[in-house]
Amino acid sequence: MPQSVRSVLAGCLLLTGLSAGPVLAEEPDAALVAEGEALFDRVCRRCHAGAADVEERVGYGPTLIGVVGREAGSVEGFDYSEALEQSGIVWTEGALAAWMADNDHMLPGTKMRHVGVEDPTEQKAIIAYLKATE
Ligand code: HEC
Repeated sequence: MPQSVRSVLAGCLLLTGLSAGPVLAEEPDAALVAEGEALFDRVCRRCHAGAADVEERVGYGPTLIGVVGREAGSVEGFDYSEALEQSGIVWTEGALAAWMADNDHMLPGTKMRHVGVEDPTEQKAIIAYLKATE
């Protein structure tokens, strides 16, 4: 390989290496979490506690702190609908996205009113925020 090609290649590798570095790897996440928090505030928080407000605000819905990966209906002391308690749902990211989009269709008989967050980007942001509250 001629020297010039080799140094161009090396330059490319160096650039790729730099752009895959910590700055770009972490920043979108922080932005996504912030976006998710704003969405959560707007669409979910009037019924669900998130992050630090869990003690003061045990609301109309169960707390969603740590909900990712949790079994449905497992917040102690919350009076769930029978439908949710017996659903056998595990709150994977996919299940959460489907729930936000169309919860009452996914689980007829749930006490949670339809919220209709159908945009996958918004779902992803809210899930990123929920994961960050664990
Ligand atoms: C109008 C009030 C209300 C709003 C707004 C609301 N929820 Fe709910 N949510 C509830 C109630 C009540 C339940 C319990 C449902 C049941 O027992 O059937 C629930 C249950 C859930 C559960 C199941 C939790 C568990 O412990 O199994 C998840 C997940 C959830 N909501 C996510 C969300 C998200 C995400 C948003 C915002 C996009 C949202 N909810 C908006 C009232 C609400």
